[in-house]
Amino acid sequence: MKFLLLESTCDETAAAIVTDELQVLASVVASQEQIHRPFQGVVPELAARAHLERILPTVETALRQSECQLEDLNAVAVANTPGLAGSLLVGLMAAKTLAWMLDLPLVAVNHVHAHLYACRISAGFDVFPCVGLVVSGGHTSLFDCHSACDMRLLGGTIDDAAGEAFDKVASMLRLPFPGGPALSELARQGDPSAYAFPRSFFNDANRLQFSFSGLKTAVRYAITGAGDQRDPRDVPVPSRQAADLAASFQRAVVECLVQKARQALSRTGRQRLCVGGGVAANWALREALQQAADEDGFDLILPPLGLCTDNAVMGALAVEHFRAGRFDSLDLDVFPGLVR
Ligand code: KG4
Ligand code: ZN
Repeated sequence: MKFLLLESTCDETAAAIVTDELQVLASVVASQEQIHRPFQGVVPELAARAHLERILPTVETALRQSECQLEDLNAVAVANTPGLAGSLLVGLMAAKTLAWMLDLPLVAVNHVHAHLYACRISAGFDVFPCVGLVVSGGHTSLFDCHSACDMRLLGGTIDDAAGEAFDKVASMLRLPFPGGPALSELARQGDPSAYAFPRSFFNDANRLQFSFSGLKTAVRYAITGAGDQRDPRDVPVPSRQAADLAASFQRAVVECLVQKARQALSRTGRQRLCVGGGVAANWALREALQQAADEDGFDLILPPLGLCTDNAVMGALAVEHFRAGRFDSLDLDVFPGLVR
């Protein structure tokens, strides 16, 4: 069976064709980075319009790549939650139209859960049950994953997502959007112990929560001086100091993520940690997680970089829903807020 998978939750328009054996026949991702760069963040209206222009060409490219015809498809799947309303609508409408036109089953997936399913695809074996950590631009959440179709939220961020904090601190240092990758490269040249930045809830194992807004403010005042209300982007930062700030900030985020993942493993008694989302591409996080896995003896699954950031392949979670008999009707809606 061949599944057409669509992803348009935020600022990547993506399509993939994956078999029910999880063989990837095509994967296409059209990035909108250039469109949003001047604004240092994703502009929802521009994102929706760009999805509209790109969604059908992206599907056509995926069909060409896989040497499939529309008639060869057996199901259509789409991420309908969470995300930007306008962006989600474009993917959903495209998926519904194709499903109706081709008389195929429609399957909806949760984008955050799909980030964890990327681990199943890259591992090549059934990774469930496990603890799941999703670290992206919009989410920083821990799940107790009983199975692919049963992921229960253990806790998450009470303010910024980890990726969002990376992007905002990168913007303070005038690095190009999206700031995560640029900031992590700059951090390679810095001293991660140069600044003692806060690590919220660090030792409180009862709270599987994250908070990065205090950390962000601490970086801001390290640039401008405490209490100074100037825009940090207007304050020149010597390159040595910028690298130290980046490295110290990155270490604070990474240590919080690793610590909370360890606490979630110990609370649930699970032996495996699956990690997904754009920030899972971060080299320092990958190194620190591997070190924790070696020390504690849990099994760590990290997808390759291309399956960490937004892509459509991870929507193969739809294969599991399909097997469980979970289909959706053509009156399916989008749910921009996080649905657990
Ligand atoms: O999962 P994703 O592609 O989209 C969302 O679902 O949000 O994640 C995008 C986020 C952005 O905030 C981006 O800056 C961050 O992931 N990111 C990184 C790295 N690569 C992407 N953050 C830190 N280090 C990286 N190497
Ligand atoms: Zn994502």
